[in-house]
Amino acid sequence: MNIDELKSVASAIVAKQKGVLAADESSPTIKKRFDSIKVESTEENRRRYREILFTTDGIERYIGGVILFDETLRQSTRDGTSFAKLLSSRGIAPGIKVDKGAKALALYPGDKVAEGLDGLRDRLAEYKQLGAKFVKWRAVIEIDERDVPSAFGIRANAHGLARYAALCQEVDIVPIVEPEVLMDGAHGIERCETVTSQVLEAVFSELDAHRVVFDGMLLKPNMVIAGMKCARQASVQQVAEATMRCLTRYVPAAVPGIVFLSGGQSAEDATDHLNAMNAMGPHPWQVSFSYGRALQAPVLAAWKGQESNAAAAQKALLKRCQLNGLARDGKYTRAMEKAE
Ligand code: 13P
Repeated sequence: MNIDELKSVASAIVAKQKGVLAADESSPTIKKRFDSIKVESTEENRRRYREILFTTDGIERYIGGVILFDETLRQSTRDGTSFAKLLSSRGIAPGIKVDKGAKALALYPGDKVAEGLDGLRDRLAEYKQLGAKFVKWRAVIEIDERDVPSAFGIRANAHGLARYAALCQEVDIVPIVEPEVLMDGAHGIERCETVTSQVLEAVFSELDAHRVVFDGMLLKPNMVIAGMKCARQASVQQVAEATMRCLTRYVPAAVPGIVFLSGGQSAEDATDHLNAMNAMGPHPWQVSFSYGRALQAPVLAAWKGQESNAAAAQKALLKRCQLNGLARDGKYTRAMEKAE
């Protein structure tokens, strides 16, 4: 294991003002996104959409890494440059999602566990050849009104994340470890904090047991936030305080960066929360973003599958990247949303 290389890739992804663009929607997920703008999910439409994202001028100031899906890592720009090469040439690390999705955990009704460990060592070797510098594995933790997640469900997901992270570091690929406590549901922010605490405690205990080097990984957690159907929504400051309290307790200072997922928050809320957390700093780790929907929703809305909207789509992406770059320094305000 080359710890210096792992550290340097991980730190570059979360350098000043920078975060991650999550563009690793699986085929069923990107179809859902395209359905919302009435665009057919053909391979060429998916390629063109991602090309619009990755060729946006100026995003390299704010984006240190892009997470791709398997199909996208094998695709190229119109002029034949592979997306991985294009991103690398712009100083953006290409990464890839390697989990195979969350499936029902046998004998634990309601719990899910991420699959994808079988054959992962071979897939990592291929992805490395294709230019991937980092990878991502997402474990999904649902919250219901009663017994979900179970303690065993949490352990099973933590174990999977740690097995995956060790396989990555074995071949000098930075793992993004993503335990996502979902914000679907009617639970309050307190329940989210309790479950997120249990999850992070289990994840770091398993990572340690698997000899994963904390300095050579990134953590991609959910924010501590009330469920979307909860009548008592917390304020921006409450979310920031609860999230930082939880992470400070459970995330070792050796981890170079925390890159939050947006999880269904609006683009503005996700930026506001990131800003409030950075305004509370300094923190032991970089506090940054790895947003999918919160970066791309305005881009999809501007693009609508029309070539004539490509420039408007790129403008929308650059704006979100800039605003999140400001939020990395605690310098974002909602008023900036209105500025052209
Ligand atoms: P969202 O920001 O849309 O939650 O996506 C991030 C991600 O990569 C989920 O795995």
